[in-house]
Amino acid sequence: MSNQPRVLVTRLIPEAGLERVRQACEVTVWAEDMPAPYERLLDLVKGMDGLLCTLTERIDAGLMDAAGPQLKVISQMAVGYDNIDVAAARTRGIPIGNTPGVLTDATADIAMALLLAVSRRIVESVDYIRTGQWQTWQPTALLGTDLAGATLGLIGLGRIGKAVARRARGFDLRLIAHSPHCPPEEAHALGVELVELDYLLSEADYVSIHTPLNERTRHLINRKTLAQMKPSAILINTARGGVVDQHALYEALQAGKLRGAGLDVTDPEPIPLDDPLLGLPNVVILPHIGSASQRTRDRMAMMAADNLIAGVTGQPLPTQVK
Ligand code: GLV
Repeated sequence: MSNQPRVLVTRLIPEAGLERVRQACEVTVWAEDMPAPYERLLDLVKGMDGLLCTLTERIDAGLMDAAGPQLKVISQMAVGYDNIDVAAARTRGIPIGNTPGVLTDATADIAMALLLAVSRRIVESVDYIRTGQWQTWQPTALLGTDLAGATLGLIGLGRIGKAVARRARGFDLRLIAHSPHCPPEEAHALGVELVELDYLLSEADYVSIHTPLNERTRHLINRKTLAQMKPSAILINTARGGVVDQHALYEALQAGKLRGAGLDVTDPEPIPLDDPLLGLPNVVILPHIGSASQRTRDRMAMMAADNLIAGVTGQPLPTQVK
């Protein structure tokens, strides 16, 4: 028996991170393509000193107790951690690590990609060719909406919201944001006007969500808030699916009360293949790829490894959830 700390890594993460963990710990890795069923995790986590997990696992009080009182750290390889019961971890004195910062640019790029894809009907246009509809250049076909001169409303002006703002300035969008905790001078420096949510919803041509999922933000975009938006508006979500009431979104799109939507996140994930949203031409849905660039995922894995190793060796975590 080695006297290295024992850790469970719940998914096959990039080698850059796994190698670090291997050097410091005795590692069990769940290496299947699909996440481990919860019951299996309960078993695997038994006796572990540390847990490196991802957003596909539910980390609740039951799992923490199944691990045992020696569990010293939960290290999430993601910036969002709504899959973890933070209160339960706090009660048990278990610090939680996450991976902020390294995925900001990649996620902001995907928000811009969705904004352009929906406003300029990119996916519809690709299908137009693939289905043999392209006969000639047509003065009135596949017309979208412009970014220049339009208003982008950012719900949340944290790291990712700000990175979207920086990109959007290059497209000559007017920028407004609702972000109760953002210091006005930081918004101002980016050319963003801080506004109330009601104003943002009624004023924006494009609304992009950059808020964590919590009790305050669950279904923030619902039938009522969708009704406040312009029928010509487009909704972009690269945060968490649960921020949007997807049924209400479908109804609004179907009734022509919203022009389109671009979603990198859905609720649930994966979105069921028979979900009616998938049948709408003005909706682009991606399989949660905001942080999916090689460099970003390598950095996330290394950060998660560093938090894990710090936790099991009794050091403060480099990036700890407050
Ligand atoms: C991805 O969604 C993350 O939270 O890092």
